Amino acid sequence: MQEPKRYLITAALPYANGLKHIGHLAGAYLPADIYVRYLRAKKRDVVFVCGSDEHGTAIPIQAMKEGTTPQAIIDKYHEIIKQNFADLSISFDIYDRTSAAIHHETSREFFTALEQAGELETKETDQYFDEQAGSFLADRYIKGTCPNCGFTSAYGDQCEKCGTALSPDELINPVSTLSGAAPIKKKTTHWYLPLNRHEAFLRQWILEEHKEDWRANVLGQCKSWIDGGLQPRAVTRDLDWGIEVPLPEAKGKVLYVWFDAPIGYISATRTWAAQQQKDWKPYWYSKDTKLVHFIGKDNIVFHAIIFPVMLKLHGNILPDNVPSNEFLNLEGDKMSTSRNWKLDMQDYIDDFVKKENGGPQLVDALRYYLTLIAPETKDSEFTWKGFQDAVNSELVAIFGNFVNRTFVLMHKLTGGKVPPLHAEFLDQKDHDLAAAILETKEKMQTLLEGYKFREAQFELVDLARKGNRYMQEKEPWIKAKAGSSAQPAIDNCLHYCLQLCANLAILAHPFLPNTSKKMLHLMKVVDKLLDWENAGSLKLLSVGYSLRAPELLFRKIEDMEIQEQVDKLKNNSLPAQPTTATVEATTPAVPEKPAKAIIQFDDFAKIDLKVGTIRTAEKVEKADKLLKLSIDLGTETRTIVSGIALHFKPEEIIGKQVVVVANLAPRKMRGIESNGMILMAEDQSGKLHFVQPESMIQEGAGVS
Ligand code: MF3
Ligand code: ZN
Repeated sequence: MQEPKRYLITAALPYANGLKHIGHLAGAYLPADIYVRYLRAKKRDVVFVCGSDEHGTAIPIQAMKEGTTPQAIIDKYHEIIKQNFADLSISFDIYDRTSAAIHHETSREFFTALEQAGELETKETDQYFDEQAGSFLADRYIKGTCPNCGFTSAYGDQCEKCGTALSPDELINPVSTLSGAAPIKKKTTHWYLPLNRHEAFLRQWILEEHKEDWRANVLGQCKSWIDGGLQPRAVTRDLDWGIEVPLPEAKGKVLYVWFDAPIGYISATRTWAAQQQKDWKPYWYSKDTKLVHFIGKDNIVFHAIIFPVMLKLHGNILPDNVPSNEFLNLEGDKMSTSRNWKLDMQDYIDDFVKKENGGPQLVDALRYYLTLIAPETKDSEFTWKGFQDAVNSELVAIFGNFVNRTFVLMHKLTGGKVPPLHAEFLDQKDHDLAAAILETKEKMQTLLEGYKFREAQFELVDLARKGNRYMQEKEPWIKAKAGSSAQPAIDNCLHYCLQLCANLAILAHPFLPNTSKKMLHLMKVVDKLLDWENAGSLKLLSVGYSLRAPELLFRKIEDMEIQEQVDKLKNNSLPAQPTTATVEATTPAVPEKPAKAIIQFDDFAKIDLKVGTIRTAEKVEKADKLLKLSIDLGTETRTIVSGIALHFKPEEIIGKQVVVVANLAPRKMRGIESNGMILMAEDQSGKLHFVQPESMIQEGAGVS
């Protein structure tokens, strides 16, 4: 497209149903923020919108788990997530929420417009119903095996493992997550968006018009969806949490969360525009607006196929691009909320940013590493060692080191001021450095505009590396020994190094905004310097201007700090270590896990199993999965830490009998020594059950 008049940048609205982890951050929010900061530095008209996705079954399900109301859940997590993003310097222009009145209104208007234009169909079908719970089972209320990848806990609307969008009928072995029961079928009427009517448009628009500029992973998913045959997709649900369908005959029904959530981008733009006293309409209706959706891989079909069809039918502009990242793994395993194998933004903020030796530099450290390993084309992996290496050997040893050396030498050799330039003494090395600065700016610009943030950041650090090499070759500290005859060469070197520092501040700003700010402070210049168009210039700091004393931009990450994180991750996760044993429920059609290898009786006999009674149970501070139990084994009382806190309230399990592995080596969890573990069985819905004697028996009884 031609130079757009304005940019509307969105990042996927996170569900306000729990803490968000760094996989989310790396997937959508950080790349969007880098892009937006770059556009702002280019002086473009840009608005960056995001907010909480507060509907859908994810919310009431979390409310059930926490024993509270859906409203309390969204109020709690909206605030936390919003603050987390702010703490990590994600610079939204607005962080709205889909419970806002204006959003309900915008969504209903959108639905009504499509309905009145005859763009929706109604159909009566048989849908899954839980008789015990007395409700229809939409989306996350139903789980089963993914027909695409075989994952056994896929939701009724999506498999979180492979990202495929599903409908409950496609699940193999469906079960209700409300009761764990197998559901029955019951008739109900719903409104559908007939995607099948739009196949030709989608093929042309995505697979032809965007075949060059959209990422391969996005094109791939779209192609397989379209080739698989587009089906009408239900946009209403039988639920009591969501936006009511604006039709009298649809009483008790709400809009499907994936219908209303992306409309949240429009509502958020409206709220923002009202605050700014601007007109929101051009952002959504004018062809000279460039709309870009930043998302994670599991959101692709919703943003590249379904929402664009809705936008087209409603007369809005279409996205120009949908940059989507793949998944970020953590220490060798997939990030998972249910197994607590993750690093939450909140935890990083608490453990690094908010610590005494933390602060904004550690915000930038995380941003740097996440961009370095950004899963732009394939899944990638966060490791604590990798984080430490990236910070210590790149941010500290290359970027920080260059700036620091420059400032130290400027104070030592040129009186703390920007030295003059002596043109007659300039040599090839000086010219090469000047050329490298300009070249880097141009390369970074092309990469940023092509959504290649990882490579763009590489160019940035490479330029600092060139600065170090330049200084090493020029050796102004050696020249200083030669007396005043060497001063012109020293001046030239430091003049160039300082101009390079100013350039680095500009080029680093989208990635490392806090570092860039600190550099402005050291150079005593105002924000205006950061205009992107200033980059490439060697006249950013004026001769004779006195600059501040050096201050380190980054500190090293110590071995101890990363060891603590690795331990914390391992100790708090499930079930990679023995907090509970899981006896698999038998699911003949699709076994949950491969059978384990055969063992000899002797192996089994090594395990000392005993019956015990739970006497006390309490939550473990700051570990939402863990309960600390004291278990009466007849002759002794054991402390056992068990990962069942999301399944049981402490008070409801006191007095229950359990089977304990009594000779398991002790293990510390959150500072508490756990002596043994209790056996639990997990049913198909993921619900845990105690393994226990049929009736109460004497504590300490052996099990064999
Ligand atoms: N809440 C969804 C998720 O976390 C994303 C919604 S994006 C929007 O996967 F476009 F619908 F807003
Ligand atoms: Zn799957």
